[in-house]
Amino acid sequence: MKLLLVGASGLVGSHVLQRALADERISEVVAPVRRALAEHPKLFAPLVDFDQLPADAPWWQADAVICTLGTTMKLAGSREAFRRVDHDYPLAVAKPARQHGTPTYVLNSATRADAASRFFYNRVKGELERDLAACGFSSLTLVRPGLISGPRQAFRLGERVAEGILKTLGPLLPRSWRINPADNIAQALLEAAIAAQPGVHVVRSDMLV
Ligand SMILES: NC(=O)c1ccc[n+]([C@@H]2O[C@H](COP(=O)([O-])OP(=O)(O)OC[C@H]3O[C@@H](n4cnc5c(N)ncnc54)[C@H](OP(=O)(O)O)[C@@H]3O)[C@@H](O)[C@H]2O)c1
Repeated sequence: MKLLLVGASGLVGSHVLQRALADERISEVVAPVRRALAEHPKLFAPLVDFDQLPADAPWWQADAVICTLGTTMKLAGSREAFRRVDHDYPLAVAKPARQHGTPTYVLNSATRADAASRFFYNRVKGELERDLAACGFSSLTLVRPGLISGPRQAFRLGERVAEGILKTLGPLLPRSWRINPADNIAQALLEAAIAAQPGVHVVRSDMLV
């Protein structure tokens, strides 16, 4: 199958990419990025500007999309800029993919995604889930991790502190509060893309421990 992966340079996305390139069930990975990726015979990674995605590129037609795009409020610098990356870009990928016949979309969302939330981050994630559900994919999977662990190039103080606390408390915590390793999330994303079960499905954080 042919996989369209957005966010391939990120923590979870790079795990998805490694797994997909090694997986015999995947014949081709298209990974639009803003910075070049290492070459691989199964990989086509066009350089794109997510504000001006090419509407008619042939690579929109795939068997499934996996989206691991996202930023932080600190990196984005404003609520508007955060929303653009965490809501608008994933939708800007969904729409042409759907128009070109791609039937399946798998989203790396977040555990408290809720379009009615008082909290901006959770609300943006929930609005994205809601708006993706309206796109008409025959299979939509929302993978909702809690705190993600894995080797990150950029230092994120808040996440490091939370990771330290959650790791110390470890087994005392309910499964839904525990840290989710990036590779577990990547595996769940990839398996959902390959299985492409009809309907809307949620993978909770306690299933990613
Ligand atoms: N951190 C957590 O604990 C946590 C918990 C729950 C859910 N999540 C969500 O999980 C998802 C994946 O997280 P992650 O930690 O793997 O993210 P990450 O490492 O920060 O990777 C984010 C990806 O989005 C791309 N991106 C960011 N800003 C962009 C922009 N302006 N234009 C184009 N591409 C852009 C990055 O590309 P570049 O490499 O070019 O920057 C990268 O490929 C995100 O949606 C995040 O909100 C995170």
